[in-house]
Amino acid sequence: MSSSTSFEGYFNVIRNIIGAMHSLTGLQDVLDVVVTQSTRGLKAKGALLRILNKETNRFEVRAAAGLGQRYLNKGPVTTEKILSTLSEPGNVYIITDIWNAPRIEYPQQTWDEGIRMILDMPLAIDEHVTGLMRIYLTEQRELSDDELDFLKTIAMQCACVIERVHLIESQRAHFTTLATHMEKLSSLGRMAAGIAHEINNPLGGILLFSSNMVKKVPEGDPLEKGLKIIIRETQRCKAIIQGLLEFARHGKPQKAPANINDIVETALGIVENQFYLRHVTVKKELAQDMVKTLLDKNQIEQVVINLLLNALHAVEDHGRVTVSSSADLLHNKITVEIGDNGCGIPAENVKKIFEPFYTTGASGTGLGLSVSYGIIKNHEGDIDVFSEVAKGTRFTIQFPVLAENPTERMAHNENA
Ligand SMILES: Nc1ncnc2c1ncn2[C@@H]1O[C@H](COP(=O)(O)OP(=O)(O)OP(=O)(O)O)[C@@H](O)[C@H]1O
Ligand SMILES: [Mg+2]
Repeated sequence: MSSSTSFEGYFNVIRNIIGAMHSLTGLQDVLDVVVTQSTRGLKAKGALLRILNKETNRFEVRAAAGLGQRYLNKGPVTTEKILSTLSEPGNVYIITDIWNAPRIEYPQQTWDEGIRMILDMPLAIDEHVTGLMRIYLTEQRELSDDELDFLKTIAMQCACVIERVHLIESQRAHFTTLATHMEKLSSLGRMAAGIAHEINNPLGGILLFSSNMVKKVPEGDPLEKGLKIIIRETQRCKAIIQGLLEFARHGKPQKAPANINDIVETALGIVENQFYLRHVTVKKELAQDMVKTLLDKNQIEQVVINLLLNALHAVEDHGRVTVSSSADLLHNKITVEIGDNGCGIPAENVKKIFEPFYTTGASGTGLGLSVSYGIIKNHEGDIDVFSEVAKGTRFTIQFPVLAENPTERMAHNENA
């Protein structure tokens, strides 16, 4: 133990620092306590604490004690320099040659400040340096093993608290993103409610006139096929508007026992022509042992169509899309996967694709995935995406196997 201080002195300093760390004070309060208490404990001139700002990639000064303003304003310190010289986190680096040490970027100012010896302690978690604590002494002296242990303990505790605060901050950011997402969804709901009425009226007119016309054309007339397509597609548009409204109003889906394979087949039938025109092949692998579960057929059809069209838009002509389904009775869930060998989604955009109005397509509305997400959540399901740029994308949707009346489950599944 150094003669300049006592065991009790160190103990008190560490107790104060740990006390601050475990109290409910914020990071800044903790850092202030760390620099002032460390300065006191080592009878040093002062201390400085830098933390890596991940956005700017700079070690920014977050707390200082005992140093003059002129010294603090000396200029920026390069991140590379800090990292390259602190090869061993957990160590205390002792600098005695102020004029020639590579880690001292401003030797003149350091000398003028009356500093003659510097102790550097990387603050690291899992070998990953997130900060640097520097202690300034006005004289050169030997450090005892106890003093070094004291410094290492402070550095370790400090790194833990920084890590904890980063974790809390990233969770907070995640919740803010979710809250923004929900806010967007609810404004989407208000807008959808407003336009649905306007769109429903002309759709009603189209349906009425096309239904009348189809009755008048003689059977086998070439017009008959086209009119029937108009009727079918208009009905689908009405169902989509309805689905959007229900989702926006957080309306409950109209669930009934359904085999998801049938829904996938219907969805494929609807988009088949668009795939054909682009020479995109669809490889279908639907589970033979699929079981029924409670689904709103129209809504899930809408989800599958959206995923299929997204895949179609992502691939080049002659691209490949795969659709598969499986049932996992052990975990009581069913899965549908839609994969493509298209352009993929850059990692930084993956988190945006479920946001309403996010689109990279020239003619897309950016509503497809956000509406699909709402529908899947209303079915207590999940949607996941795995994507690699220039290789392709795979969307996985999962639903729990449910029955109207749980005791009927076996019966449904036997009939599936
Ligand atoms: N399979 C995919 N491959 C590559 N990017 C995709 C894929 N699926 C979705 N995306 C990206 O996610 C964005 C949002 O998709 P979403 O379905 O919500 O809207 P959209 O397809 O652009 O428009 P809309 O569905 O309203 O016509 C797309 O614009 C695209 O950038
Ligand atoms: Mg889409």
